Amino acid sequence: MDVVTGAFSFTGRYVAARLLELGREVRTLTRHPQSASPFGSRVEAFPLDFELDTLTGRLRGADTLYNTYWIRSPRGNLTFERVLDHTAILLSAAREAGVRRVVQLSVSNASASSVLPYFRGKALAEEALSSSGLSYSIVRPTLVFAREDVLVNNIAWLLRRLPLFVVPGSGRYTLQPVAVEDVAELAVEAGSGTEPTIMDAAGPDIFSFEELVRLVREAVGSRAAIVHGSPRLALGLSALTGKILRDTLVTGAELAGLMGSLLTSQAAPTGTRRFADWLGENADSVGRSYVSERLRNWS
Ligand SMILES: NC(=O)c1ccc[n+]([C@@H]2O[C@H](COP(=O)([O-])OP(=O)(O)OC[C@H]3O[C@@H](n4cnc5c(N)ncnc54)[C@H](OP(=O)(O)O)[C@@H]3O)[C@@H](O)[C@H]2O)c1
Repeated sequence: MDVVTGAFSFTGRYVAARLLELGREVRTLTRHPQSASPFGSRVEAFPLDFELDTLTGRLRGADTLYNTYWIRSPRGNLTFERVLDHTAILLSAAREAGVRRVVQLSVSNASASSVLPYFRGKALAEEALSSSGLSYSIVRPTLVFAREDVLVNNIAWLLRRLPLFVVPGSGRYTLQPVAVEDVAELAVEAGSGTEPTIMDAAGPDIFSFEELVRLVREAVGSRAAIVHGSPRLALGLSALTGKILRDTLVTGAELAGLMGSLLTSQAAPTGTRRFADWLGENADSVGRSYVSERLRNWS
């Protein structure tokens, strides 16, 4: 039996699907165990409470824990520090419960010296795992693409509806999108190992941000003009749009990460599925409706 945090959400759902495909028994820990499971009764669901004894009980009997738990950016009292505390409790519980291995989803270019809290927090979570005494693997995705992804979908949504799209800065900074199925396969493969491993999950193609926007524009048949503007202008416009949509389209820190090409791997690609192929196959549906991260993760 393996445990996946977030098996009813985005990446965790694909990890769970892959495990089920391989005949594993799957349990999930989630904030919404009562919600309709995409797996019917095949995945046992429990609340993700960060109380050591309760968590230990829920992890007992698990071979591998696949941990996707994280937040995109802080909100209210759920800060990155708090998420790190939660991660530490989860790892202690895994150790207490005798879990054989932990696979942690991190991010490409995680670094303890980063000024960006997401990337710094991820590096601290990696350190917590590598010093926990547990057998581990760290999988660091770049930008994960799929039907359920937020960023690409909402770029497509903007391109379908607005007469122009503002590319922040030069648009030459890069991204290396990876298919969620590739991330799930890499994670599950990492789960079967015994040695400590750290690997990026990155697709075969690197695009400049402007190239990616143009690809999406062409795929959805948009005639929006692509113009360049300062990061400050782009953030201002996105804040305005976010007000109308009651969501945060992009934060300053996220934009800095994007413009720093942090969603590009420094290593050889590990994923095989091509973003442009996926885009072609999903051109009719991508960006048809807006995906609100706030509604999805904070309501
Ligand atoms: N998506 C990407 O492009 C991307 C890129 C690089 C790295 N990653 C990393 O990969 C992992 C999976 O990412 P994902 O995009 O697939 O995430 P996700 O499924 O939306 O969420 C992953 C987990 O975090 C929990 N979570 C999310 N927002 C939360 C909130 N506001 N409060 C409490 N719990 C919250 C979810 O809980 P519930 O199950 O209860 O919903 C789920 O267990 C994460 O560690 C992420 O940092 C993702």
